[in-house]
Amino acid sequence: MKSKAVVLVGVILLCALATINGEERPGFSPLVTKESRRTLTLTESGGITAVDVHDGCRGSYHLQFITLEPGSLFLPVLLHTDMLFYVHTGRGTVTYISEDETDEIDVVRGDVYRLQQGTTFYVRSHPDPTREKLRVHAIFDKTDIEDPLGFSVSAYSNLSDMVRGFDEKVLQSGFGVSEEAIRGLKWVPTPPSIVPTTHENETEKGNRKEGMLEALLGVGGPTVVMNKKTTKAKPYNFFKAKPDVANRNGWSTAVTHEDLQALEGSNLAPFMVNLTRGSMMGPHWNPRATEIAVVIHGQGMVQMVCPGDPSGKVDGGFACRNAKFKVEEGDAFVVPRFHPMTQVSYNDDTFVFVGFSSMAGNNHPRFLAGKSSVLRALDRDVVAASFSAPNASTIEGLLASQGESIILACTSCAEELERSMGEDVERRKEEEEERKRAEEDAKKREVEEAR
Ligand SMILES: *[C@@H]1O[C@H](CO)[C@@H](O)[C@H](O)[C@H]1NC(C)=O
Ligand SMILES: *[C@@H]1O[C@H](CO)[C@@H](O)[C@H](O)[C@H]1NC(C)=O
Ligand SMILES: *[C@@H]1O[C@H](CO)[C@@H](O)[C@H](O)[C@H]1NC(C)=O
Ligand SMILES: *[C@@H]1O[C@H](CO)[C@@H](O)[C@H](O)[C@H]1NC(C)=O
Repeated sequence: MKSKAVVLVGVILLCALATINGEERPGFSPLVTKESRRTLTLTESGGITAVDVHDGCRGSYHLQFITLEPGSLFLPVLLHTDMLFYVHTGRGTVTYISEDETDEIDVVRGDVYRLQQGTTFYVRSHPDPTREKLRVHAIFDKTDIEDPLGFSVSAYSNLSDMVRGFDEKVLQSGFGVSEEAIRGLKWVPTPPSIVPTTHENETEKGNRKEGMLEALLGVGGPTVVMNKKTTKAKPYNFFKAKPDVANRNGWSTAVTHEDLQALEGSNLAPFMVNLTRGSMMGPHWNPRATEIAVVIHGQGMVQMVCPGDPSGKVDGGFACRNAKFKVEEGDAFVVPRFHPMTQVSYNDDTFVFVGFSSMAGNNHPRFLAGKSSVLRALDRDVVAASFSAPNASTIEGLLASQGESIILACTSCAEELERSMGEDVERRKEEEEERKRAEEDAKKREVEEAR
C-alpha cells in the first residue's frame, strides 16, 4: 500500500516537472476545440485538418481529420508511427502494404482499425457521387517520432516525394524504365495529398503521370501487384458490436486486441461512449490510460479533477487544475491518467464521443460512484473518516442509494455544470482583480515607506 502511494506521487511530480521545464512542449490543455484545428490540405477532392494534443505528462498525440469527397484518392503515404483511425461517415477502401502483408479493407461508418508504423497505405472513397463524404479521424502516437530535443517529424511522408527525391538516373535504373517515363514523373508539379480517382477518364490532364506513379506503386490496378501474403483483415465496428456496458442511460464500448487483432502491440486502443439525454459517465479515473476523445455527436460537459491538488490551486502556473468545460461536435478533449472525471449529456440530446486511450491493455477504469464504486470496497469507517463524515452510516447511505453503475441518470446536470462554469469564470475574474488591487496597494505602501 505504502509503496504504491509513493509511486503515485512520483508519477504526478514527474509529469508536473515535465510541464514546467519543458518550454518546448506546449502546455497541457484538456480541451482542444474544433476551431483550433489547422488545415494541412484543402482541395476540391477533400481536405485534412489537424491538432496536436498533450497529456501534460509524457504523451503527445497528433490527430488528423481527413475528408474525401466521393470518388477521391488519398495518395500513398509511408507511416512513421502507428495510426489508429475511426471512420466517421461514408465508405471507402484502405489499401496497405506492411512488412509482411498486403491487404485491402473496406471501411464504413463506425469502423476502427490500426496500421503499424512502416506501413504504406492509401485510401479511396466510394465513387458514388450521391454518397456521403468519407470522413476519417486518425490518431498518431508522437512519442515514437519526437526526439528529446523537441524536434518532431511528421506522422507520415508521401511516397511521391520519396520517389521524386532521387536523381533521374537513379530512378531510371532503379525502375528500369525509359528516361521519358522518369521525366514525366519527376517534372510535373507535386499533386496535392488528395486527388480525384480518374482511372476511367484517360483524357484528363495530368492523368498520364499520375497513372505512371500509380503503376509504380501498384495503385489502382485490378489487384495490388505484390506477391507477398495477402490476408483479408476486417475492421472492428462499434455499431455492429455488443457494447461492454449498456443501460437506459447509454452505452460504452472499449476495443481490445481480442476484438481486433490488428490492435495487438498497439499503445492506443479505441473506445466509444453514447450517453442518452440527461445522463453521465459516473465519476471515474484511469489508473494507466490517458484518454483522448473526439465528440462525434451532440454536446456535453466534462468535469475533471486534478488529483494532486484537490483545491484546484494553480502552483507556479502549470496546468494541473480542476477543469469544467463544454464540448461540442468536432472538439477533442484529453483526460490524463489518475484524473477523476465525468462526462455529462444535456437534457435535449445524446452526447456521443469516440476516443483513444493509451496503454489500454492493462487499464481498468475505477469508478467513484455507483454500484461498482471503489469506495464500496473500502471499510466504511475509513471512508467516513476520509470525508470527515460523522459516522459510517452516513457513508452507507451515500454509497447504497445509487442502484446503477457506470452510466448513470443525471437530469439537468450538464445544464447545472455549465451554469456553475460561468460562475467560476466570474469568480476567478474577481479574484484576479482582487489580487491585482492588493499588489498595487502593496507597491504603493512600499513607495510611501521608502519616502
Ligand atoms: C507531399 O508532401 C509535400 C510536403 O512535404 C506536399 O507539399 C505535397 O503536397 C505532398 N504530396 C502528396 C501527394 O501528398
Ligand atoms: C473526362 O475529363 C474531361 C476533362 O476534365 C471531362 O470533360 C469529361 O467529362 C470526363 N469524362 C468522364 C467520363 O468523366
Ligand atoms: C446513441 O444512442 C441513441 C439511443 O440509443 C441512438 O438513438 C443514437 O443513434 C446513438 N448515436 C450514435 C452516434 O450511435
Ligand atoms: C450518524 O450521523 C447522522 C448525522 O449527524 C445522525 O443523524 C445519525 O443519528 C448518526 N447515526 C449513528 C448511528 O450514530
